[in-house]
Amino acid sequence: GLLDPKIKAKGKKYFGSAADPAAISRSTDKLILTSDFGCYTPENRQLLPDDVSSISLKWDATEPSRGSFNFGNADTLVNFAQSNGRLVRGHTLVWHSQLPSWVSSVSSASDLTNVINNHVTTLVSRYRGKIYAWDVVNEVFNDDGSFRSSVFFKLLGENFIDIAFKAARAADPSAKLYINDYNLDGPGAKINAMVALIGRLKSRGVPIDGVGTQAHLILGQVGGVASQLQVLANTGLDVAITELDIRIPKPDSAAKLAQQQTDYNTVAKACINVSKCVGITVWGVSDKDSWVNSVFPTYDSPLLWDNNYVRKSAYAGVDAAF
Ligand code: XIL
Repeated sequence: GLLDPKIKAKGKKYFGSAADPAAISRSTDKLILTSDFGCYTPENRQLLPDDVSSISLKWDATEPSRGSFNFGNADTLVNFAQSNGRLVRGHTLVWHSQLPSWVSSVSSASDLTNVINNHVTTLVSRYRGKIYAWDVVNEVFNDDGSFRSSVFFKLLGENFIDIAFKAARAADPSAKLYINDYNLDGPGAKINAMVALIGRLKSRGVPIDGVGTQAHLILGQVGGVASQLQVLANTGLDVAITELDIRIPKPDSAAKLAQQQTDYNTVAKACINVSKCVGITVWGVSDKDSWVNSVFPTYDSPLLWDNNYVRKSAYAGVDAAF
């Protein structure tokens, strides 16, 4: 059965959810997060553009101006996890999005190296021993497998990845260090680029432990997940499904919800069956709070609890796989 929240402690795979201070302030979310999930990833959901109540672990939240760090919301989430004996995935250290403009304005490679080192060292040291795994770099690739032209890549080439991982390892030698990306669910240029990059990082001795596949999926399009997880595992790294949701083209129907149950089962089984897959994180609790509503407006209902916090059949799909 699923959802012994301490499954990780028993050496099995964890089942986690995105969470943030807003979620744990809502009593129903809090109840579900503590009863059903063993690992939390800060989502940093902003319900309104000026709502900072939940921003926790992304760069715009933690270091909004250079050298000036905010940890209040991240501390809230990490303390909640600690007091409940849960794991935390730290998300994320170096990402082109939710990046404050002062970072994008850095203009020299040496200055940017200092900026990355200081940011990574400060965050990872603060939570040493409390964050189980970090997404050290997030979404470095375009879908065609080329590097995204972030300020990091423009000034440092792929060496920005080496810099970030080395700083993270030095700051917490026991945290698991991940590279994370989306659209790794099917074969093609992007996953090929990821596998090739991992090979280069390993050959340069960069301290990397895992690769995360976000798995923001679409109903009926999950058939490639199992084989691609194995492709990622074949790099020798641990793998994790880090942001799972399976969005339904509007409108919902009974048939689509049944398909979603099947799809969740397929994805959960894929992780169970790949020995290097350490766990699954779903990207939130209730459909009503999912990021999908704002980002993919023609889709809906991607999660395991509906708008009224009723467990969906999708939950049974996951449960049956564990
Ligand atoms: C999203 C959150 O879900 C939103 O609430 C927030 O406003 C923006 O970020 N890939 C990632 C996540 O790595 O951090 C993103 O989360 C979803 C896509």
